Order: sequence, then C-alpha cells, then structure tokens
Amino acid sequence: MPTFNLKINNKTHTVEADMDTPLLWVLRDKINLVGTKFGCGIGQCGACTVHVDGNAMKSCLLQVSQAEGMKITTIEGLSEHGDHPVQQAWKEIDVPQCGYCQAGQIMTASAFLKKNPNPSSSEIRNAMHGNICRCAAYNSIEEAVKIASEKLS
Ligand code: FES
Ligand code: FES
Repeated sequence: MPTFNLKINNKTHTVEADMDTPLLWVLRDKINLVGTKFGCGIGQCGACTVHVDGNAMKSCLLQVSQAEGMKITTIEGLSEHGDHPVQQAWKEIDVPQCGYCQAGQIMTASAFLKKNPNPSSSEIRNAMHGNICRCAAYNSIEEAVKIASEKLS
C-alpha cells in the first residue's frame, strides 16, 4: 500500500492508504481526527468540510493522493483553545442542536470570512448553502456568522 505524508494541523502525518482513499477516512480512521464528520460521502452535506490550502473543501471528495503537499486544517486545528472568532460566536448564541453538522459549518464559515470579512446576509446564505443541517439551525448559523464577522472587523 502506498505511503503519504500529509500536513494536517501543522504536523506531518505519514499514513498508508490506497491512492483513492477519501481524505475523510484517513482523518477519522488513521489519524483519529474524528471532529470531521461523515454525513453522505458524496459531497452533498458538508459535514466533512476541512480547509485545504485555506479553502473549505469536502474531505469525502478529496483522495488522499491529491491531498499530499497541501496544508490541511481540521476543526481540531482551527484554533488552539476553541476560541476562533467563529467558534466564539457559535458559543455565544448556542448554535448547535444535535451538533453533527457543526464542525463542517464552522469550517465553511471560517474559510468564507477570511475571504469576505464583512458579508451581507445573502452572501452568508450563499456561502453556507452547501452545509446541510438536519436540525434546521440555519437562522442561528447565519446570525453566528454575522457575529463572527463583527469580531473579525
Ligand atoms: Fe462529505 Fe457529506 S460527507 S459532503
Ligand atoms: Fe443537528 Fe445541524 S445541529 S444537523
């Protein structure tokens, strides 16, 4: 089985995996970074979102062979103490309900705000539309992104 060196959360991890193994499986099953969730496995729900070279990407769609050499950040590496402005905003208004989608929501929101720190409501909705929440916490998510944008500006 081939070996891959992956840069994840500022550490290098060497893993053995088939070339086409989704990054999501490697994160969860080989590196025990289980904050990134499996939802659909086909790029439809956003639960598996991580940052790849600063962009929000669905890790179920990225093969491990494609991820080598890229800078990968998972929810565990977003901030040292869980205090990224997006995480602070999420806590302030208690966004999570069951919580399952939330790591993906936070990773999408944080990558988005880096590119657009002062977004309109429609820009927020548009940026977040690929992240499904079965608990339908969409209003809280939008509000928390707004709060985070105020913290960042
Ligand atoms: Fe990757 Fe649903 S698990 S988008
Ligand atoms: Fe339950 Fe989003 S909080 S799926």
